Amino acid sequence: MVDVDSFIEEKIEEIGTEIGNSNAIIALSGGVDSSTAAALAYEAVGDQLTPVYVDTGLMRKGETESIRETFSYMDSLRVVDAKDRFLDVLEGVTDPEEKRHAIGEQFIREFERVARDTDADSLVQGTIYPDRIESEGTIKSHHNVGGLPERIDFEEIVEPMRDLYKDEVREVARELDLEAVVAERMPFPGPGLAVRILGEVTEEKLDVAREANHVVEEELEEYDPWQALAAVIGKATGVKGDNRVHGWVVAVRSVESRDGMTARAQEIDWETLQRIQSRITGENETVSRVVYDVTHKPPATIEYE
Ligand code: XMP
Repeated sequence: MVDVDSFIEEKIEEIGTEIGNSNAIIALSGGVDSSTAAALAYEAVGDQLTPVYVDTGLMRKGETESIRETFSYMDSLRVVDAKDRFLDVLEGVTDPEEKRHAIGEQFIREFERVARDTDADSLVQGTIYPDRIESEGTIKSHHNVGGLPERIDFEEIVEPMRDLYKDEVREVARELDLEAVVAERMPFPGPGLAVRILGEVTEEKLDVAREANHVVEEELEEYDPWQALAAVIGKATGVKGDNRVHGWVVAVRSVESRDGMTARAQEIDWETLQRIQSRITGENETVSRVVYDVTHKPPATIEYE
């Protein structure tokens, strides 16, 4: 991308031509990619675009409220409460790829409903360059790239940022006044907290993961990580009060990266790590242990599943 202003101008025109007089939808996840794509497309076609935010129950703390606020200027915004339906399809699912698949499928079902409802012919997606590369290599199934276009017959697939890296997307977002999304939120995977929970996704693990991620994001903000996260990785013995408990183990991870394709684990000072540990175990009775992940990518991935 040479110049942000001309990129935006060009893309708005291009999107306008691609969508024409038809109706379009976009899946808003709250992340910088889909938010930027939605803002660009909304500039181009206004309420012909229906931005759809599916509240899967797998989102970060405060995500739904923050979406409503950031995009309150879009009259066509739809917030779909699908928490119970997602938990239902995830019941008993432990395999990571099956989990992603189940979430992707449910997303499509939620989408199909809105697409039919709004008579949408075009699908806008926030796909960026690294998504395409990783999907081609089938390192992991990214539900935001695969799925929707194959399953719902759209006339037009609009991907205005398909050639951009994340830092370039952030530049565009800033220019579009998406300061809240850019400044306050780290990248977050489409399948949400489900890939930060090893094994079956249950309401109990989700509560632990949501609170722990909130603590980690708050405490590590000053390190300016590419991503800082917490994952529920199993159970271990601990002592709470006078009792031995079999509690959750929460792994904390904080990485630097340019594009998510490779990453380096960050060095965090002991005091901060201890504060994180004490907040996570203190705020949740069922957590017995907090560990810090020192693995780079490769060999580890950033997310746990
Ligand atoms: P991994 O875990 O593969 O992640 O090292 C690389 C980057 O991609 C994000 N990620 C996803 N983003 N849908 C997304 O939109 C997904 O299915 C998905 N899986 C991983 C991850 O958070 C990191 O930024």
